[in-house]
Amino acid sequence: MKPPRFSAADRRFMARALALAERGRGTTNPNPVVGAVIVRGGRIVAEGFHRRAGRAHAEVNALGALRGGARGTTLYVTLEPCSHTGRTAPCTEAILAARPGRPARVVVGCRDPNPIVDGRGIARLRRAGLRVDVGCLEEECRAAIAGYAIWVREHRPLVTLKAAATLDGFIAETASRRRRAPVWITGRQARRAAHELRATHDAILVGAGTVRADDPQLTVRLPGRRAARTPLRVVLAGRRSLPKGARVLDGAAPTLTIRDPTGRVAVKPALEVLAARGIQSLLVEGGAAIHGAFIAAGLVDRVALFLAPKLIGGGLPVASGANLSVARALSLGPISVRSLGPDLLLTAEVTRR
Ligand SMILES: NC(=O)c1ccc[n+]([C@@H]2O[C@H](COP(=O)([O-])OP(=O)(O)OC[C@H]3O[C@@H](n4cnc5c(N)ncnc54)[C@H](OP(=O)(O)O)[C@@H]3O)[C@@H](O)[C@H]2O)c1
Ligand SMILES: [Zn+2]
Repeated sequence: MKPPRFSAADRRFMARALALAERGRGTTNPNPVVGAVIVRGGRIVAEGFHRRAGRAHAEVNALGALRGGARGTTLYVTLEPCSHTGRTAPCTEAILAARPGRPARVVVGCRDPNPIVDGRGIARLRRAGLRVDVGCLEEECRAAIAGYAIWVREHRPLVTLKAAATLDGFIAETASRRRRAPVWITGRQARRAAHELRATHDAILVGAGTVRADDPQLTVRLPGRRAARTPLRVVLAGRRSLPKGARVLDGAAPTLTIRDPTGRVAVKPALEVLAARGIQSLLVEGGAAIHGAFIAAGLVDRVALFLAPKLIGGGLPVASGANLSVARALSLGPISVRSLGPDLLLTAEVTRR
């Protein structure tokens, strides 16, 4: 079938639905964020989004906010309506049962990657005679649920590797210097962006080496803003116990320590443990050995690298221990660059071959 074309108005309404979806970010887990708007005569007449698992889905909330019936309306929804009974009834049936009158058209951002939906919701609506156009702002809609998509298909969270480095690629001074109190590599704006990054992840992970060297708290601290949720703190530990009084164990947020008798936790099973707890997005915050372990396992989806305009000529690199050949390197797609005061934030996605 020829892919439908979408007008500028379609894209504008879908962009609004995407913005609504974001309001659920952090509270819908393990469900994806979803937004919906209903348009009549070129104007938005109802809006909805999914706020929490077990509560109404975005389409049902939008239909519930609609006055004067659905006849002749267009429903825009960022994700394919569900067709199965989970904790709530299927949205396809709510759309078909809308009274008086059904929507004239349903515009869907992207298909639901969940194998139990995956096109069935769209097929159900079409079978019932509705016009359904799929793929409006598809890339953006997919990106909004990237963590959910990996979780539901691969049973692991989406992994973002994050580090702050000098321009010559070092995340810390040499061990002899490191014994003193840790120093910030990047400036205030970059550190704020790092906390914003934490706020969009379900969990934050570090290695025992980082706990010993920096004693990080691994909480979201954004002045003037209450975080929507507290990410789970995860430590990959070796055989040694963590220092008594380490701030990751302070109870400010839940902490999970994963150990392995060999002293090297295997990355894939650790990710499966996290996925089983509903973790769909994981921010890996170092140090070098842990970054190396994720790179060696090929389990990195995104990179967020803060670069400070400093040269130290030696120290601990961003990652160590994997030593892949250039031919087997994890390759990244286009790098996007953001200036944060004197620092840069480089972000990119790993391209799967
Ligand atoms: N600038 C930044 O963005 C940034 C961020 C984080 C850390 N850092 C710096 O990085 C340094 C720490 O890095 P690091 O490389 O020494 O330590 P690390 O990567 O934080 O932790 C390594 C330790 O984790 C444990 N571990 C468990 N499973 C592992 C696995 N599969 N692979 C490797 N280690 C595993 C082992 O603990 P045991 O030792 O108990 O066996 C290992 O020694 C600190 O100096 C810190 O300041 C910088
Ligand atoms: Zn639904």
